[in-house]
Amino acid sequence: MYTCTNCNSSFKKWYGQCPTCKQWNVIEEQVISQHVKVVGKVNEITTLQAVDIEKTIPVPTGIDQLDLVLGGGLVKGSLCLFGGHPGIGKSTLLLQLASNLSTNVKVLYVSGEESLGQIKIRANRLSANPNINFLSGQNIQDIISTSIANKVEVLIIDSVQTAVSSNGGGNGGSVSQLKLIAFELMEFAKSTNTTVIIIGHVTKDGDIAGPKLLEHMVDTVVYLESDQGNLRILRSEKNRFGSTSEIGILAMGPKGLSSFDPNRELPNTQGSNIGAARSGFCTGNRSILIEIQSLVTNSPYPSPKRSSQGVDVARLNIISALVQKYGKVTLTYDDIYLKLQGGFKVSESTIDLGLIASLYSAKEELPIPCDWLFIGEVALTGEVLGTSQLPELIKAGLKLGYKRIFCAKSNGHSQVEEITHIEELIRFIRRN
Ligand code: TYD
Ligand code: MG
Repeated sequence: MYTCTNCNSSFKKWYGQCPTCKQWNVIEEQVISQHVKVVGKVNEITTLQAVDIEKTIPVPTGIDQLDLVLGGGLVKGSLCLFGGHPGIGKSTLLLQLASNLSTNVKVLYVSGEESLGQIKIRANRLSANPNINFLSGQNIQDIISTSIANKVEVLIIDSVQTAVSSNGGGNGGSVSQLKLIAFELMEFAKSTNTTVIIIGHVTKDGDIAGPKLLEHMVDTVVYLESDQGNLRILRSEKNRFGSTSEIGILAMGPKGLSSFDPNRELPNTQGSNIGAARSGFCTGNRSILIEIQSLVTNSPYPSPKRSSQGVDVARLNIISALVQKYGKVTLTYDDIYLKLQGGFKVSESTIDLGLIASLYSAKEELPIPCDWLFIGEVALTGEVLGTSQLPELIKAGLKLGYKRIFCAKSNGHSQVEEITHIEELIRFIRRN
């Protein structure tokens, strides 16, 4: 067996150049011995009763959206990975976190990619706590020794791709180096009960040498994402100490990232628009109401375009088919563009009804009042189905001033229009 020391790919034969990462002279033979002895040292075992659960109490970070995603905060002695595309705001978020935590604990922020001068400019912009400790460095052994000597309680490494370990082969930023660094930091976090946070840039070519590779090695994985403008979504991909269902919504402003309430920012509930319908979905314990926008135009192409931001194109195709069948319209020669306001990506089925309303309104050029809300899953038969999140979404809709809420069934609110099939929905839109 031959293995690449740079990207860890395995091959049956030797190559001068690695076929995967294209580096030269990185393939080495790995000899697996046939006669291995299985004699280890005897370790101490324990019962669950004796396990100290004090250690897994989360410590709030002071950034409420992040605490929501983490399930309360950061757990002492854990290794947390923050991933995201370059320029998305990872350093900004973690500098804000360092600033908040520095009032109570000793935080060390290590930067391997920016000078201390550059960090100071950002820190001034954020009016960060002047007590945060900084280090400009890349060698992981030096960073760990410095942290131990200074009794650091929270260590932040910006970024894992610029860190280098002297214990292993491969170039800095290579797959084997990245894994080694994550392993060494995990050992350090667990043995000293230090909270360690590593930043990882999502690389253009996806998984290779990016945060994806480290997901299984760390305790918690948080991604900072954006699809649109200054809005940022925080999402947990893995959390050993809590659920991964909550998302955090932040806005990047001139003074860093701050909490953003999409429901408050929704355009007003007056007037009406062609192609715009309001709907909602739940993430964790939160209800988020959004506007769905569709544009339907005559296509100049032999095979019309179906383009969608925020929902799957496959889902758009199903919605188009439902509108075509039960709305009795022809979309075969139309280009369809669909977009969710705010840059959300929604896979929850509660927005099905809103998608149908928006598309039908765009096709027939029938405006929908802004104070109408559409909630419900739609079956392929055109039937509107109730969902367990309905009470929460109705409550959110009423609170935000929606006058008519269309859904499968309700608890007798006067503003709720119960509908069982999308043909009824279409009649409501036509009659308006
Ligand atoms: P940064 O945190 O450096 O991103 P990352 O570490 O993920 O690469 O953020 C970079 C962007 O954020 C940059 O384009 C400037 C912008 N920004 C603001 O808009 N407001 C701010 O207060 C700060 C600090 C940065
Ligand atoms: Mg950065």
